[in-house]
Amino acid sequence: GWRTPHLYKYQEFWCQAIEIQSIVSFQRHFQASDNDVVLATIPKSGTTWLKALAFAIVNRKRFALENNHPLLTSNPHDLVPFFEYKLYANRQLPDLSNLPHPRLFGTHLPFPSLPTSIKKSGCRVVYICRNPFDTFISSWHFLNKVNPGSKAPMSLDEAFEMYCKGVIGFGPFWDHMLGYWKESIERPHKVLFLKYEDLKEDVTFHLKKLAEFLGFPFSLEEERAGDVEKIAKLCSFENMKELEVNKAGKSIKYFENKTLFRKGVVGDWVNYLTPRMVEQLTKVVEEKLGGSGLSFKLFT
Ligand code: PPS
Repeated sequence: GWRTPHLYKYQEFWCQAIEIQSIVSFQRHFQASDNDVVLATIPKSGTTWLKALAFAIVNRKRFALENNHPLLTSNPHDLVPFFEYKLYANRQLPDLSNLPHPRLFGTHLPFPSLPTSIKKSGCRVVYICRNPFDTFISSWHFLNKVNPGSKAPMSLDEAFEMYCKGVIGFGPFWDHMLGYWKESIERPHKVLFLKYEDLKEDVTFHLKKLAEFLGFPFSLEEERAGDVEKIAKLCSFENMKELEVNKAGKSIKYFENKTLFRKGVVGDWVNYLTPRMVEQLTKVVEEKLGGSGLSFKLFT
């Protein structure tokens, strides 16, 4: 038989049993500083890319963009740790006081479930959203690659039915997106809302926007020196996929780094979804997100 992932509803979102303890610990104990940066995503919507970009931007004085850049030898998830998979995943609470400022963190938690200190302090939040069609296909591939051998693969049909019902890690996807979307409209200085498809279309424009939002705008000299393009190239799918650390390393306990780099394009869903599935997901998206002002590009 097909495997059904065991997801539990915690607060308003779905997660796995092994994740709950670290999520609760993060919620109870994390104290944000005013210059912290939290990178938030629902899985498979551009987390790795956003972590790489933000890390390169805020550390470009510390680490020159030429040789020996940490992104050439470390996976972005090592440089920008997840609260729930790394920092709070152990019995002992982490000592975060020695991290260089601004501290960069990652999380998959929905906005309402973030610790109060993140919401109330001056700390900034960047969200990257990807169209639900590609996010679904990316998740399906990923879930079937995690711990290969120990679990039977899940059929596309079964995964799709669950996705449309909102049953996906940290989902429903619409609640996740809308939580950050709403906040980015109400508090644009607090939450920057980016889209994977927009970055694919014009990465340098959004890189500059991200740098400004984070308080690290590019100077004219830097722009003239091509530093924006250098970061774009350093963090590109093509570059990162070929790095030794991303081909062979393992930065998160549950999977190998290579599973984070599959195809990296917009519109791969056309190769998987039947016309009936497209119709069904279009309906779900319209029903749940229609009227919110949030829309997606589905093709390049
Ligand atoms: S995770 O597990 O949530 O951190 O995964 P996440 O990084 O969010 O999603 C993985 C998908 O993003 C693609 N990817 C990239 N796209 C563009 N540029 C870069 N640098 C990049 N790195 C990873 C990756 O290929 C997954 O998408 P799919 O569609 O499966 O290829």
